[in-house]
Amino acid sequence: MAVILCHSPKGGTGTTFLAAQLALAFADRNRDVTVISTAMNDSLPLHLALPPAVTLPDLEGQAEDAVMVQGIDLRNCARAPRDPDFVPMLQDAGLLSPASERVLIIDVPSGERGLAQRLLPFASLHLCALTPAPDCVALLPQFHEELGEGALDQTLFLVNCLDETRRLARHTTAFLRELFGANLIGRVRQDESVVEALAMLQTLGRYAPSSAALADVTEIAEHVLLRLAAQAELAPQPAPAQQPQTGDIAPAGKSRAA
Ligand SMILES: Nc1ncnc2c1ncn2[C@@H]1O[C@H](COP(=O)(O)OP(=O)(O)OP(=O)(O)O)[C@@H](O)[C@H]1O
Ligand SMILES: [Mg+2]
Repeated sequence: MAVILCHSPKGGTGTTFLAAQLALAFADRNRDVTVISTAMNDSLPLHLALPPAVTLPDLEGQAEDAVMVQGIDLRNCARAPRDPDFVPMLQDAGLLSPASERVLIIDVPSGERGLAQRLLPFASLHLCALTPAPDCVALLPQFHEELGEGALDQTLFLVNCLDETRRLARHTTAFLRELFGANLIGRVRQDESVVEALAMLQTLGRYAPSSAALADVTEIAEHVLLRLAAQAELAPQPAPAQQPQTGDIAPAGKSRAA
């Protein structure tokens, strides 16, 4: 199981857009994916080409209420920030089990820092979208402090809504690259196709398959998959069961020494 926490210090940086695009990219690569939105005013369905009238079922909802898009299981749990049982419930549902092959993406709104803190210890990765603007950058020290020492090691940043024709946006991106080094995994260009796709109730891939933003998020998704694969390789493997040597077989219930 890979658990990807999508959470940013600032609202409107594209966290939900990113969560949706990652889910689509992983599903495209035949991964089983669940996305849980924890937002009260949930725009996740729209990012997955569902009409605004669709509300996603609760995590504990009935199987027949499931909303699936391209094989992705979509859930909403707006009570999560105030529910102390949210994490135990994920555990009980097996969603945090390392044995599961499913990718779990959790979209946590910027204002719900407490929930992000509770989820971080279970996250394989924390993905943080930033916009290249001073009002976003100014929130980083407080964000770092609140998430705690060590949180940055598992946080991958990306710059979203980058307009490379803008000097301040370019300079801010260069500053962020210097600040986060290899943990800044890429940028997604500002692209009108993203909102046009929402207006057309289509996924970005369907509406604008050759758009700049889609190419950029696809690269980000590949990077995330590589990181997850590297993590899985580094994870301690269970010790292989000891193979008996030829001539080393003792009768059941008797040791060789006996
Ligand atoms: N690269 C992009 N180019 C153009 N528009 C974008 C891009 N990324 C996101 N958007 C648009 O920006 C708006 C905000 O995105 P989104 O809803 O994902 O942000 P958010 O961080 O989840 O916001 P909130 O804090 O409200 O949950 C949406 O209309 C989305 O379509
Ligand atoms: Mg959002």
